[in-house]
Amino acid sequence: MPGDKSIAHRALIFGALAAGEQRVAGLPASGDVASTANCLRALGCRIETLDGGQVVVSGRHRLPAGAAARIDAGNSGTSARLLAGLAAGWGLDVAIDGDASLRRRPMTRVAEPLAAMGAEVTTTDGRLPLRIRSTRLHGITWQPEAASAQVKSAILIAGLHASGATTVIERAATRDHTERMLAAMGAPIERDGPAVTVRGRGPGEVHGGGHDAGARTVGLRALDLTVPGDISSAAFFLVAASIVPGSHVRIAGTGVNPTRTGILDVLQAMGARIALECAREQGGEPVADLVVSSAELRGVEIAGALVPRLIDELPILAVAASQAVGTTVVRDASELRHKESDRIRSVVASLTAMGADITEREDGFEVCGPRRLHGALISSCDDHRIAMAMAVAGLVAEGTTTIEGSEVAGISYPSFFTDLERLRV
Ligand code: S3P
Repeated sequence: MPGDKSIAHRALIFGALAAGEQRVAGLPASGDVASTANCLRALGCRIETLDGGQVVVSGRHRLPAGAAARIDAGNSGTSARLLAGLAAGWGLDVAIDGDASLRRRPMTRVAEPLAAMGAEVTTTDGRLPLRIRSTRLHGITWQPEAASAQVKSAILIAGLHASGATTVIERAATRDHTERMLAAMGAPIERDGPAVTVRGRGPGEVHGGGHDAGARTVGLRALDLTVPGDISSAAFFLVAASIVPGSHVRIAGTGVNPTRTGILDVLQAMGARIALECAREQGGEPVADLVVSSAELRGVEIAGALVPRLIDELPILAVAASQAVGTTVVRDASELRHKESDRIRSVVASLTAMGADITEREDGFEVCGPRRLHGALISSCDDHRIAMAMAVAGLVAEGTTTIEGSEVAGISYPSFFTDLERLRV
């Protein structure tokens, strides 16, 4: 699998915070990760690819406090939100923009806590473009409305540069790659139940040093790390192998961080045959080979604290549900409406067009299966995960499925269609 997109963003951004040079292997060729790299370059950071593909990041020559910059986060919510936290922490004056899809997504969720920390933030009706300026930040305690790792991470990144402690209290646990990587880099970060706290170095130490990198860092140790394979990309093959009879697939080196493995729990509850082999640790993250064979699936209920653990996998789980015996109900997932597309709407429209029995709910959807799908002309809705999920649906549909705008898969997984083709027997 391509490297995990969430971990890759953090490897680059936290590399820019470290005193030395961070070396990262296994970065995916994803459009979103390229967006983070481009934004960091616009902030004066150096990002170079060595022969062999390892990437070296250094924030040594980043823009001085007070400097202005414009960054384009493209399609990437993680870039826009985490870098808003970084811009605030570095005391910059930064305009952040993105593509049409990203401009529709909510930014108040980061603007409010960063403003509460002392940054001056203006959004465009709660969305991009936004402008963020700051001189000094102070710690806060914040309980985000939505269960969002992006919001948590933006606040913690700013918190590293703030005076005093910054605490984020989560309503439901979200992916913890930020906490793991910052801890591995020596940051003063700790979790106590639903609360995560970082202790910042305070404004004097952060903003006082001109171009002297030592004085301007937050004391993080650079790492030499390898990004594990992306379980959110593996999810398409887990479902494809489960629903295409006679399949047997091994997915090597996939990240199995418990905050991301809701897809495994749900597929196993549906009756999928998935085994984890060669479990190991890589750069502070658990990794395993996933071995999956086709199986008869049954419907399940997905709700509550499970939802953030599989939020990006719900489109492909809808495809699995269309082939499962019985009803699958997804609740408590209204966050899906704020992704690259309104994923409740996109998945219901696409699967309905292919003959599935799927009903839209305010905070999720309901699928009755199994249904024999038929090929159709589907729009990707400019959403990488919809394009890939519908390609998997196309594998079990009668006739031809055509996905318009399928190249959007490159946002997370540029070689998805060739990899899928390679597995066909
Ligand atoms: C991500 C967090 C999730 C997820 C996104 C990546 C991250 O978004 O949907 O694909 O890297 O932190 P939210 O935190 O907004 O739910």
